Amino acid sequence: MKIASPLARTLIATAVAGLCALPAVAQEKIKVGFMLPYTGTFAALGVAIENGFKQYVDEQGGKLGGKAIEYVKVDDESDPSKAADNANKLVKRDNVDVMVGTVHSGVAMAMAKVAKDNNTLLIVPNAGADAITGPFCASNIFRSSFSNWQPGYAMGKVAADRKIKTAVTLTWKYAAGDESVKGFKEGFEAGGGKVLKELNLPFPNVEFQALLTEVAALKPDAIYVFFAGGGAVKFVKDWAAAGLKDKIQLVGAGFLTDGTLEAQGAAAEGLLTTLHYADDLTHAKDKAFRLQYAKTYKLQPDVYAVQGYDAAQMLGAGLAAVKGDVKNRDGLVKGIAAAKIDSPRGPFTLSKAHNPVQDIYLRKVVGKNNKNEGVAVKGLADPARGCKAS
Ligand code: PHB
Repeated sequence: MKIASPLARTLIATAVAGLCALPAVAQEKIKVGFMLPYTGTFAALGVAIENGFKQYVDEQGGKLGGKAIEYVKVDDESDPSKAADNANKLVKRDNVDVMVGTVHSGVAMAMAKVAKDNNTLLIVPNAGADAITGPFCASNIFRSSFSNWQPGYAMGKVAADRKIKTAVTLTWKYAAGDESVKGFKEGFEAGGGKVLKELNLPFPNVEFQALLTEVAALKPDAIYVFFAGGGAVKFVKDWAAAGLKDKIQLVGAGFLTDGTLEAQGAAAEGLLTTLHYADDLTHAKDKAFRLQYAKTYKLQPDVYAVQGYDAAQMLGAGLAAVKGDVKNRDGLVKGIAAAKIDSPRGPFTLSKAHNPVQDIYLRKVVGKNNKNEGVAVKGLADPARGCKAS
């Protein structure tokens, strides 16, 4: 188009110059994109994470680093085949400042790739995929939860310390199950135990019968399992119904009995698990957290709610360090990395690979509680094998 009139040309030039001279307008709100499972076997876990996150933000008056928080969310269905598209929607369509997700390790790996490719901040509030804070570690990727290795390793150590000699493992065949079992095996065999056989079934199948028959025939002292959510409920009930509860010691990563005890009932009584949380911790932060959670959501909190709460605390620490300037990425990342998080689980810091360095508790199911039986491993850091971060 040709602009003929000199007056029009002057007016346009003045307007353009004026626009360029405007000071950069500070972003008013911080956009958080939840990518979590709201359907499927992990649905309750996703809801608990979102609840916990929002609880912390609400306690701060709805603001972090002085900025109001707004949310968008997507149901990832714990489906790795849809994960890259879902994460790209949050980053490219919704323009989120930070992604918070997810539960399933395979989905989280796809999120980590999208976060890396687009340099988007990612806080993982559950998925334990070792690689996220291992070979795939990055300055813009943090985790508020655990690595799959951590609870597994601790349970292996506890089992060996308790003079259990032989074990069979059973899990869903995907990163979380494989890595949880690997951690268990490392702790157990270092203490003199022997894993007789590693059994598995595809995620999220719950047809356990043939596998239970196989475990019974192997006659191990113990069975170590990784299951969570709806699958964990079914497994614990099937194990008891098969009459194996009094014959073979069932142990697991604590997800087996976290957020599931109402549904598992008597079948879970007495089970031993290891996790970075328990239901009867004594520090003030946990007491206040649990009270507020029960009041707001009319539910008892679980480890997932804690991890969501702490993801918000981590983001809050980063935003406080840059006074809400979310575009100051270096300052934001430094603020999160240096934070000492006053978690309901007990205080924790982050490793160089951005994974919590934390106490792992041994817990025993008593009624509707995962009762703390003491610290199984104090200040356990994931080995972060393959992470080149300095
Ligand atoms: C995972 O896929 O990493 C995962 C899922 C559910 C849990 C724990 C870990 O409870």
